Amino acid sequence: AVAAMAPRWEAGLLLLLLVLPPASAGLSGYFGTKSRYEEVNPHLVSDPLSLGPGTGGSLPASCTPLQLRAVLRHGTRYPTAGMAARFPALFAARRRLALASSSKHRCLQSGAAFRRGLGPTLDFGGDEVEVEVNDSLMRFFDHCAKFVALVEENDAAMCQVNAFKEGPEMKKVLEKVASALCLPVEELNADLVQVAFLTCSYELAIKNVTSPWCSLFSEEDAKVLEYLNDLKQYWKRGYGYDINSRSSCVLFQDIFQHLDKAVEESKSSKPISSPLIVQVGHAETLQPLLVLMGYFKDDEPLLANNYAQQAQRKFRSGRIVPYAANLVFVLYHCDHVNTSQEEYQVQLLLNEKLLSFHHSNETTSTYTDLKNYYKDILENCHFKEECELPKVNVTAIDEL
Ligand SMILES: *[C@@H]1O[C@H](CO)[C@@H](O)[C@H](O)[C@H]1NC(C)=O
Ligand SMILES: *[C@@H]1O[C@H](CO)[C@@H](O)[C@H](O)[C@H]1NC(C)=O
Ligand SMILES: *[C@@H]1O[C@H](CO)[C@@H](O)[C@H](O)[C@H]1NC(C)=O
Ligand SMILES: *[C@@H]1O[C@H](CO)[C@@H](O)[C@H](O)[C@H]1NC(C)=O
Ligand SMILES: *[C@@H]1O[C@H](CO)[C@@H](O)[C@H](O)[C@H]1NC(C)=O
Repeated sequence: AVAAMAPRWEAGLLLLLLVLPPASAGLSGYFGTKSRYEEVNPHLVSDPLSLGPGTGGSLPASCTPLQLRAVLRHGTRYPTAGMAARFPALFAARRRLALASSSKHRCLQSGAAFRRGLGPTLDFGGDEVEVEVNDSLMRFFDHCAKFVALVEENDAAMCQVNAFKEGPEMKKVLEKVASALCLPVEELNADLVQVAFLTCSYELAIKNVTSPWCSLFSEEDAKVLEYLNDLKQYWKRGYGYDINSRSSCVLFQDIFQHLDKAVEESKSSKPISSPLIVQVGHAETLQPLLVLMGYFKDDEPLLANNYAQQAQRKFRSGRIVPYAANLVFVLYHCDHVNTSQEEYQVQLLLNEKLLSFHHSNETTSTYTDLKNYYKDILENCHFKEECELPKVNVTAIDEL
């Protein structure tokens, strides 16, 4: 993509980059969806296999995990080792692993890597573990006509993003970059600057090296470019439009169907048919799901004109869905409890850290309470109906 830059100044550019002072540290926290997983789990920088600090909020010893359901974003590394170490009982030899993936090549590769990452000591029946492709679950957004028409292919959905590109914050970044490159500012635009910033992020995420492109940006610039990335996520995958998250209810319901099944099997003392379910998808799979569950919601929407007010926003895609992001539901069975409701408990981990549940602000919930809290989505969100295009003229709907 860098080749798309105007050839007139391309030649001198690299030379200039080399004489600029080295990049100030600390851009890597602002790469949005192009962030490496290490940004959310810094202990992995020095030791990729380390477990890091405990997740806390541990359950009584009388609780044992029954089912682990992981929805992962493809990435350059997998926290497989960490997951296996945290849940030895589930990852014990000869337990059944159901592995599903989006059809995209990078996801299939990640699925295979996940299995290899479990190592030779964990025997899941070797090659018998097939990666099952299921795009209706992992790429629900492609299958949702309403989302495609009203968001994905609708220029109006990019309105805030485009406005921010022309706004005062971006203008300042353009002027600084132009000046560093000794170029007239008219020769630069937000898209070119974004390409340079992406190049900087890729080299760090993929090769763990600081690219000379990074030297063009200060931390302040990086924050502006992060906001640009977050704006796009917000309007195309986040709270910007309801259909963004509603389209994920098919995956949400599938998760609960499998949890239900595990609870039923446990109640009737049967072996759990799917103790481990791992699904590999995209940032676009995870982000809407987390929005559907109400996570990382700010009081005010992200807009082109509220960059400063949103400095402390919750919706920072680099913290939510970096490469290899993972959302894990763990269902436990607990003995010696006071009420039958307490027998089945759930924890939720995002990128290996416990998330608090909205209904209790605690990191453990009874399965019953969790289902009650999400009752409406579980019972009343029907993918087919949600995703049906309204019969009326779509162009007219855009203006609503
Ligand atoms: C990545 O780079 C940092 C800084 O140069 C270094 O400390 C770290 O060991 C590297 N990590 C890996 C996994 O190579
Ligand atoms: C994908 O998953 C859904 C929900 O579990 C299921 O109904 C469907 O049959 C699956 N599709 C394929 C191709 O396996
Ligand atoms: C059961 O109730 C007793 C008394 O209310 C309490 O001390 C104990 O912690 C409870 N046990 C569990 C597992 O919640
Ligand atoms: C939730 O709990 C955390 C720590 O346990 C606390 O800091 C926070 O204020 C609580 N939030 C609400 C809304 O109660
Ligand atoms: C939809 O509405 C727009 C403007 O409101 C109009 O230009 C267009 O012709 C309409 N399309 C159809 C298929 O009715």
